[in-house]
Formats: sequence, structure tokens, C-alpha cells
Amino acid sequence: MTHENTPLECRKSCTTLQPMTMTFDKAWSAAANVDGWLLPEQGRALFAAGRRLLPGTAAVEIGSHRGKSAILIASGLEPSARLTAVDPFDDPRWGGGPESLELFQANVAAAGVADRIELFRGISTEASAAWSGPSVGFLWVDGAHDLESTLADFDGWLPHMASGGELYVHDAFSAIGTTRAILQRFLWSKNVRYTGSVRTLCKFQVQPTSFAERVLSALGIVSRLPFFARMVAIKLARRRGLKGLERRLMKQENEPLI
Ligand SMILES: C[S@@+](CC[C@H](N)C(=O)[O-])C[C@H]1O[C@@H](n2cnc3c(N)ncnc32)[C@H](O)[C@@H]1O
Repeated sequence: MTHENTPLECRKSCTTLQPMTMTFDKAWSAAANVDGWLLPEQGRALFAAGRRLLPGTAAVEIGSHRGKSAILIASGLEPSARLTAVDPFDDPRWGGGPESLELFQANVAAAGVADRIELFRGISTEASAAWSGPSVGFLWVDGAHDLESTLADFDGWLPHMASGGELYVHDAFSAIGTTRAILQRFLWSKNVRYTGSVRTLCKFQVQPTSFAERVLSALGIVSRLPFFARMVAIKLARRRGLKGLERRLMKQENEPLI
């Protein structure tokens, strides 16, 4: 495992973008061609979360791949704020391999946000156990989507989170492991409440919850279950080659499953 806890070097060609003059459209045009899994409206939510980051806190991303979401979060940050990107960059399930880290570095440099990103090369549990940074005001969970890994992401990072901080989870209510982890930890949580979704990007706020907030949060989570059932059914139909059924289950042609 390599820890690279210094800002990534900006390449000579990189133009450092000034986030306060940065718009979502500029950030998206830098991120759009980077290989990854993110819809424009989800990118907009990440950019806005970066912009809202509580002063003095850090942003953390679990699962960076080639840098698509990192570019969007970092583009929204104040110049003094930092995003820590956590990824081993070698997970073949997600197209990881020897070239992944280099591609990540090249992409964030080309987007002009390398100086706002600190890299932790390793898995989420190693990073959360070693964390010595400020409280985390924004956590983006987009690493491995099995139950055990997602629970480890939540359990490892929640103790580091600032009160009022935001927690976004990708592939929520589409991947079974991620969904089970959300139900297990957040359906009736005294510290985490559901605040909304952009398709499979699910938003939570970390703050002590009142009884009424817990009820509303639980209702919000439960309201996503029909979407979850539909996403799983589409994936199963696709896996079995049932194209007619797949089409009938979709609400629009080529509906994305993220
Ligand atoms: C879905 S991709 C992330 C996509 C990325 N957020 C983007 O916008 O393109 C998942 C990434 O998580 C990484 N990963 C898998 N398990 C992990 C773990 N336990 N901790 C941190 N990263 C992990 C993989 O190497 C892969 O790069």
C-alpha cells in the first residue's frame, strides 16, 4: 500500500481553475469524457456538495477510478479545501490495473484540480483507520458495492464526520449490497437521515435526528424500494437475455441503471 498524502503535482500544461469562478458546466466539460459511471445530474449534485463543504472540514471520496467524480467534487471546493481520494487503483472488477493511477493523475491534472486532491492509495478501511485530517464534511461512497465493503465504508468513516456533514452513496437502490447496507445502518438511525436521491445517488445528512426526522427519513428510504425492485428486475432480465421484458421495465429508452 502506498500513501501519497501530498497534493498531486499539477503537470506543466495544467491550468489551475479557480473554483469560485468555476461553474458546473465547466466542471462537467472537464469530466464528461473521463471514463466512469456518473450522470450529468449526479455530477451536478457532487459539484454542489463540494461547493457547500462546511468550512474547515475535508471532503473524502471512496472509489476514484479515473477521476470523474473527483473532478466534479474538487471543482466545487473553495481553494483552501481538499478532497482526499481513496482507491487502491488495482481492482479489476472496475477496470483497475497498472495504468489506473496514472490515468487518474492525468485526468485531474488536465481538469486543473490536482492541487486540491490528496491521494490515499489503498482501501477505505485502511484510509479511515489512518485518518488524521480534519472532520469530514462530505463523504462520497462509490467503492466496492457489496454489503460487507459498504458497511465497512459507513462504519469506518462515520466517526470522522462533522455534525451537519453530508454523505452521498452511489448505486444505492440499484446494487443489492449497497441497498442492504443503507437499510441496515440508516433506516432508523439516530445520527443519519435521508435527504433525497438523484436516481441511484442517495443523499444523507449526518446530524442527531429527532423522532419526527427519523420517521420522515425512514419513509424516504422506503419510498425508494419500488425503484430498487425495478432496477434489480431490469438487471436480471438483461442477464437472462429477456430483451422484451427489459424494455417493458424501463421508463424510457435505454434508461440508465445508475
Ligand atoms: C465505481 S468505481 C468509482 C467510480 C468513480 N467514483 C467515478 O466517478 O468514475 C469503483 C472504484 O472503487 C475502487 N474500490 C473498490 N473497493 C474499494 C475499497 N474498499 N476502498 C476504496 N476504493 C475501492 C475500485 O478500485 C474502483 O476504482
